[in-house]
Amino acid sequence: MLIKFTLNGEPINIEAAAERRAVDLLREDLGLTGVKESCGSGECGACAVLFNGESRLSCLMMACQLEGAIITTVEGLACGEELHPLQDAFIQKGAVQCGYCTPGMLISAADLLRRNPKPTRPEIRTAISGNLCRCTGYQKIVDAVESAAENMEACTPAVFPEKAMGSQLK
Ligand code: FES
Ligand code: FES
Repeated sequence: MLIKFTLNGEPINIEAAAERRAVDLLREDLGLTGVKESCGSGECGACAVLFNGESRLSCLMMACQLEGAIITTVEGLACGEELHPLQDAFIQKGAVQCGYCTPGMLISAADLLRRNPKPTRPEIRTAISGNLCRCTGYQKIVDAVESAAENMEACTPAVFPEKAMGSQLK
């Protein structure tokens, strides 16, 4: 089937089997390897993408569910040539360790900051609770999200579907 959606701000038209998983379409067919697959069963958060601005697990989604959606992967988080405030804060705070879980952490945090621009530390912990880090690096990750919240004004349209879609989501 032909699937049409917006990916990191660009229109996508791609043929895929209806039963193909979204994570496979994004990683293998479209080359967005920042979308990680770890557990493949909805337990680790590594495969998270923004679906119309909300964090979703792409290993649990069928490719056909992407039809008409605005999808942002970690590759689309940057603000043009500038890193997204979250990416910058993760580097500044030393919150990046193995890098395998980091894309999903960034996506969940972007979802949080869109809904809640000034989250408390408990709210940050709750937001990333579905993203598992085997390195126990959560303290620095929470520090980074808290820090990024201070610099979210200049953010990418791809993260905020309201900007990309005009009034359609209002
Ligand atoms: S790979 Fe999707 S939740 Fe783990
Ligand atoms: S930084 Fe990836 S598992 Fe901990």
